[in-house]
Amino acid sequence: MLSRIASQTARRSVKQLSQQTRFASTKPAFAGHSNKQATAVTAGIIGATALTYMYVDASANMADEGLHPPSHPWPHSGPLDTFDHASIRRGYQVYREVCSACHSLDRIAWRNLIDVSHTEDEVKAMAEEFEYQDGPDDNGEMFMRPGKPADYMPKAYPNEEAARAANAGALPPDLSLITKARHGGEDYVFALLTGYVDAPGGVEVREGLNYNPYFPGGAIAMAQTLFDGVVEYEDGTPATASQMAKDVCTFLAWAAEPEHDERKKMGMKATVITVGLVALSVYLKKFKWAPLKTRKIVYK
Ligand code: HEC
Repeated sequence: MLSRIASQTARRSVKQLSQQTRFASTKPAFAGHSNKQATAVTAGIIGATALTYMYVDASANMADEGLHPPSHPWPHSGPLDTFDHASIRRGYQVYREVCSACHSLDRIAWRNLIDVSHTEDEVKAMAEEFEYQDGPDDNGEMFMRPGKPADYMPKAYPNEEAARAANAGALPPDLSLITKARHGGEDYVFALLTGYVDAPGGVEVREGLNYNPYFPGGAIAMAQTLFDGVVEYEDGTPATASQMAKDVCTFLAWAAEPEHDERKKMGMKATVITVGLVALSVYLKKFKWAPLKTRKIVYK
């Protein structure tokens, strides 16, 4: 009897001991918890400081960096959307009749327009309207000849100095990649073209510059160029200033990324094929593993 009680006590104390060790072993875990809390609090403080800094910084630099352009639902902005090619065609007309007076488009050749916005015959006829220097001929002379589809878009000015001299010292940038070169892309260019307003009270704009809140600094050497009815569209679309801005921005977005439509088509094909292959491999894996996973091992 006594010995049984003794053994029970011994068992109990062993149990207590093991409980103690269990609690003892959980202690470091509690310490880890408070460590995590400290990390979270530190991260929170750093994050809040960064946000405050960014916000204060952004509002302080609004005039320096220009107004943030509103974003528009471009017909080509979705993952499966292609360019509106009728709009590219109208945009080319706006570029040719308005912007090309000052801006070059160095990376686009006439042939790039074929089957994008114009037919081959139209492109040939348009290129022929411009004279290009070629040569030397058999006598070593350079000569002028009409343009060919392989020629690049003619320049607005012969050199940078001439461009600056004609534009109050400012250089009109090449527009080939402008939608990629500016924060906001076509939204920015659209906002810039349609955003001319009178300078607010207290803001002085130097002679030869124009006030535009979307341009960093607010004073731009380019005057407003798009007014209702500046061009006459052949397809009868009313040529309002915003319509022309939209079309020329679509054209410039195409110029900066002529492979855009093809890229999205490739992306769609790649996604469809990859999803198919993944589904197939999941099926195949299950098929091959099924006998192993459903097998029952019985020991006797
Ligand atoms: C009369 C000449 C002239 C015409 C026409 C003109 N621009 Fe400009 N453009 C300029 C000049 C000059 C600048 C440089 C402005 C500056 O740096 O202050 C400029 C700058 C720009 C910029 C760059 C702004 C930036 O963020 O640096 C864009 C985009 C632009 N023009 C688009 C166009 C488009 C599109 C058209 C046609 C609808 C057009 N421009 C017509 C002279 C012109």
